[in-house]
Amino acid sequence: MAIDKKFLNLFIKVTEKAAIGASKFIGKKDKIAADKGAVDPMRRELNKINMVGTVVIGEGEMDEAPMLYTGEKLGTLNGPKFDIAVDPLEGTKFTANAQPNAFSVLAISEKGGLLSAPDTYMEKIVIGSNLPKNLMDIDYGVEKNIKLLANAKNKKISELNACVLKRPRHDNIVKELTKLNVNINYITDGDIAGALSVIGEKPKNDIYYSTGGGPEGVIVAAALSCFGGQIQGRLVLNDDEKIRAKKLGITNFNKKYNIDDMVKGDVMFCATGVTSGDLARGVKDLGNEYEVNTFALHKSQNTIKTITNIYNK
Ligand code: FBP
Repeated sequence: MAIDKKFLNLFIKVTEKAAIGASKFIGKKDKIAADKGAVDPMRRELNKINMVGTVVIGEGEMDEAPMLYTGEKLGTLNGPKFDIAVDPLEGTKFTANAQPNAFSVLAISEKGGLLSAPDTYMEKIVIGSNLPKNLMDIDYGVEKNIKLLANAKNKKISELNACVLKRPRHDNIVKELTKLNVNINYITDGDIAGALSVIGEKPKNDIYYSTGGGPEGVIVAAALSCFGGQIQGRLVLNDDEKIRAKKLGITNFNKKYNIDDMVKGDVMFCATGVTSGDLARGVKDLGNEYEVNTFALHKSQNTIKTITNIYNK
């Protein structure tokens, strides 16, 4: 069954309030305070909604996160059952340093519709829409994947743009891409925006090729499921993390998750800018009011919209 469209505005309000909360810490060099600035209002707003919500992607596990922990029940507990994936502040460093691309984000599905991934790394390859299903595979390696992509897009390899998260762990990916003559656009953080840079009318990138957070991977999959883009992800787990993954029901530690393995059924996705970026404009302090800008998706309604709202202080 589809999610009733009346919920979209309610969820938009959740990320709007969280973004306003975080915006008070822009440039204050305090990542933790900025995150808390988003978490508190996000939780408060979610608890006002008539639903039985369960956090499947949250701020951590129950023993490490007091709020929005995985498994926490949210809402009035009177209404439809939803799975909720939250990242109250994606880009804590961006917020602390007043840099672009920080936003507050959540994804909602019907119960059982979102993979509950542990807070570990995930290898990811992400491509846009209108490409053959399951075109690429992490195990093919960079060269084969790039050749397949160039062929499917009818482009020369040297015309492809790849987004890479700048980390030493990606030295090999960078080496291979450079050898192939692929243009690389680096990001320093924020791999949700990086991964989503492959979608839209004139996407900045043809592929996102990096290892970032697992929870961020599921949130990206939720957004892509509304667009027709593709992601393949594989969790990177040490022994301790395998125990945590097991608690969430994951038994095949080498599984490669395609989009259908991470997201099922109807989905809503909302991202409200904290600082201005590729997905949405940042919170504007107008003196007595805040202006907020949100990118919102609802799969079953084919809704893709960007909306602006004003809140009194
Ligand atoms: P936070 O905003 O929660 O700090 O995360 C930012 C982020 O860049 C994610 O987008 C990305 O998935 C992850 O951190 C990468 O982790 P690391 O900095 O350890 O490489």
